[in-house]
Amino acid sequence: MLKPIIFACLFAIGHLLCHAQPSSSTPLSKEVAPPAYTWRGCMIDVSRHFFPISFLKRQVDILASYRINRLHLHLTDAAGWRFEMKGYPQLTQRAAWRTQSDWGRWWEAGDRQYVDEGTPGAYGGYYTVAELQDLVAYAAERGIVIVPEVEFPGHSEEVTAVLPQLKCEGNTGAQGEVCPSAPDTYRFIDDVLAEVARIFPSDYIHIGGDEAAKEHWRNCPRCQKMANDLGLSSTDLLQDHIVRYAMRRVASLGRRPIGWDDALCDSLPAGTAIMIWRSPEMAQKALDKGYDVIYSPLQHCYLDYVQDAPQTQPLSFGGYLPLDKVWAMQPPKGVMGVQGNLWTEFIETPEHAEMMLYPRIMAIAEVGLKGKARGSFKSFRKRALQEVARLQSLGYSPFDLKNEAGHRPESLHRIKHKARGAKVTYNKPYSETYTAGGASALVDGLQGDWVHTDGRWQGFMTDSCLDITIDLGSVKTVRSVSMSFLQSEEAYIFEPKTISFSTSVDGKHFTLLSERKITRTAPKGIYVPRQKSFIHPLSWNNYAKKMRYIRVQGSATGVGHWIFADELIVR
Ligand code: ACM
Ligand code: ZN
Repeated sequence: MLKPIIFACLFAIGHLLCHAQPSSSTPLSKEVAPPAYTWRGCMIDVSRHFFPISFLKRQVDILASYRINRLHLHLTDAAGWRFEMKGYPQLTQRAAWRTQSDWGRWWEAGDRQYVDEGTPGAYGGYYTVAELQDLVAYAAERGIVIVPEVEFPGHSEEVTAVLPQLKCEGNTGAQGEVCPSAPDTYRFIDDVLAEVARIFPSDYIHIGGDEAAKEHWRNCPRCQKMANDLGLSSTDLLQDHIVRYAMRRVASLGRRPIGWDDALCDSLPAGTAIMIWRSPEMAQKALDKGYDVIYSPLQHCYLDYVQDAPQTQPLSFGGYLPLDKVWAMQPPKGVMGVQGNLWTEFIETPEHAEMMLYPRIMAIAEVGLKGKARGSFKSFRKRALQEVARLQSLGYSPFDLKNEAGHRPESLHRIKHKARGAKVTYNKPYSETYTAGGASALVDGLQGDWVHTDGRWQGFMTDSCLDITIDLGSVKTVRSVSMSFLQSEEAYIFEPKTISFSTSVDGKHFTLLSERKITRTAPKGIYVPRQKSFIHPLSWNNYAKKMRYIRVQGSATGVGHWIFADELIVR
């Protein structure tokens, strides 16, 4: 999930500090019991934004003090190829440089554009082999293995931009997934994995495997023929074919492969590890297939998510992951390890990256060391507060935990109001994915937290959208009706374009009480948030109006956009 000019001076400061050793009073350093999990990892995405070796060493110092033992580097992605690759100079001369530092604007601009190194305004960078070898040795001295990740077959726009022979037949535009039927694809995979194995002594090599769009494969005559020849029912299944190929290649180099959970399929090499990201449930599926599992579900381990009320935090991609939610993770029995993942689409500076890492990665480290025996969140939070102070004294920029705003206050208590337990008729259905518990969700007294995935927000999709009628059971005197709406752009969730409340005493004749139009327009580039998430409470207040039925209707801002509501509060 990404930057250089302002970095120059910030990195200079970072460099001066990078040899500062953590003080021996690290809360974790007293831990002597054998670790609960053998893999205690931290992933840093250096593709979306390039972070120099000095920054990485500085983090190694702290991660080592938490007994994190793996630093996974996401080295390749559309936003930039990040290491010197023998035989493929175009990967570092061009695919490592993009037209602007702002990842969101660059991404929204359409066809991903790369420029030659040295072009005025070019943003990016890459590590030389010597730099990586130096980092590997530095980390090893501190008990940390650098685990390299190169992405196949998806997240590869930068590769196909400079190696068009890896695109599907006939495609002259951008392509995010390498073509599985292009012979050069396999030569490329072989060459890259051999070079990665030469640079990194890591026992594991990560081959990515996530989020391949596959759309070009469907229209590619060569891919269609290949799927046919292999007896596959769809070109989509070429994903498994290419993942198996890359993983077997890793195994043939004497290393163990890792793939994101999208790579999960049968017949992967013995010793394969699956890195869970989409849901905790994926872990059991991978365990059931006999693979090792590294537990890093976005619900507990995605450190790019804001850790405090979104309005108090920098713009980010995705949800809300406060420290207590990291701590609350429950890795299933049998997993090999846990890992925190720092995607950097919206993280441009070392300070921001450190703020997102600390202290949440400390919680992940403690889960990794102590498992179920980790004690209470309350006692951990006290140690985390001390650790934040220690990091600040060392010149790091952790999140200021002591001034945390915390969960949405309204979400902390079940409230009483006149519609609690009322019968709700859905004139149009709610989403089967975001049910918030079903037909009582909007009158159960529970309001949502800052994020749509918390099980309290009920979702309504464009075509049906929001249309409910509630029955209070008898005619009641009502003074106010209110409902809150969540906006979270990257999830296509917007406050409604229009919202109306109507009331009735008999359930047949309704009188419009209030209609609002929201004038804010949804941005076009909906993959890329431009506004922070927020919650808009809408209410109608009046004095002593009699009603039994209340109908609420909302329309969406656009095709494919959601409305999310948590509670219809009637007083
Ligand atoms: C991922 O977040 N696509 C692994
Ligand atoms: Zn193809």
